[in-house]
Amino acid sequence: MPWLARCFGTPLYLMSANSVRCAIAEVRRAFAEFSPVICYAVKANSTLGLIRLVAREGCGVEVVSVGELFRALRAGVAPGRIVFSGAGKQERELEAGLRAGVLSFNVESVPELELLSLVARRTGKRARVALRINPHVDAHTHRYITTGTNENKFGIDWTVAERAYVLASRLPGIEVTGVHTHIGSQITEPGPFVAAVRRIDALLDRLARRGIRPQWRNLGGGMGVSYRPGQRRFDPAVLTRLIGPALKKRPMRLILEPGRFLVAEAGALVARVTYVKRGVRKTFAITDAGMDNLIRPCLYEAWHGVLPVKARRGRSARMDVVGPICESSDFLALGRRLPPLEAGDYLAVMTAGAYAREMSSNYNGRRRAAEVMVDGKKVHVLRRRESFEDLIKGE
Ligand code: LLP
Repeated sequence: MPWLARCFGTPLYLMSANSVRCAIAEVRRAFAEFSPVICYAVKANSTLGLIRLVAREGCGVEVVSVGELFRALRAGVAPGRIVFSGAGKQERELEAGLRAGVLSFNVESVPELELLSLVARRTGKRARVALRINPHVDAHTHRYITTGTNENKFGIDWTVAERAYVLASRLPGIEVTGVHTHIGSQITEPGPFVAAVRRIDALLDRLARRGIRPQWRNLGGGMGVSYRPGQRRFDPAVLTRLIGPALKKRPMRLILEPGRFLVAEAGALVARVTYVKRGVRKTFAITDAGMDNLIRPCLYEAWHGVLPVKARRGRSARMDVVGPICESSDFLALGRRLPPLEAGDYLAVMTAGAYAREMSSNYNGRRRAAEVMVDGKKVHVLRRRESFEDLIKGE
């Protein structure tokens, strides 16, 4: 790792191709009986090289904007393997999805359904639609990333879902093909998924009585990883054991939309210590990576492991690992016990393959960092570091 950091500079996002492949294989193994279409949620990390890798492993993708759709198509994903979600899809996004011929739209509201019908008629296409149902289950995750309760903006409330399906089945240009749920992110226990499946099954029974039989069941994403010691990692095999019998009862095809689970553990953010600053009350390791590279600690109070790339001998000490940004919320880790550090040492911020580079910014005039993928003995540059010209492009 030190030579990679020296070679490509820091901050540096480092991805492992094999780790991504292992995670895909784990999901596929757990759901083997149901041969799901795994639609990688590209919002976790939409770098073209990574989308290409995931597609080569047989996955489709889930996109939430015309921009992500553009990326997926550019990476060579077949339109028939793309599902299009998003609570606020604009008319031109619906049209782009229709023209591309996506597998289905996850439709999140009645007004969206009506607009999609209009756009479909205008373009002479049929829109395949899964309604995103909000089953009102609490995923017990951070309040900013829970989506499946009736206080969230997402999906159609399960109590009015039947009516929405009846409308969808009558609207011209709309073909009802599926039912979708996504109840939140970084979920570590199977319970909320089981509850959601139960709610959806009751809905499917009621729909069947009306002659509406969606063929696709989309369970969304949300499978969590272990960021800190002692934190449980989601076990997809346990989930299939619990929901398997319910899934087998219906001859439906399955879609999964994991994002984080496929890429988070595959990535680290490598930073270089600029200064070790001993304050009056605290010690700070000030690094060249900050909240512009990884906003999760500041935004969600998320905990990421921090490891020295080469540990020095000596007494460990408690310190805050912070960035150079002019904000007090610019921290990567607080109160962490670390071995002695010196300027020039490299630190690896772990489990940073998802929602890190993707949520990065140019705040404080910072160029977005390079992203590199290690695949066996090969190293691929997925994205080069931004240049100063990139910083002012379009101004
Ligand atoms: N499907 C839909 C409709 C989604 O909204 C999401 C994530 C996923 C799939 C993928 O979820 P995953 O498997 O990655 O949990 N920035 C936050 C996470 C936001 C997730 C948003 N939606 C974080 O850093 O924790």
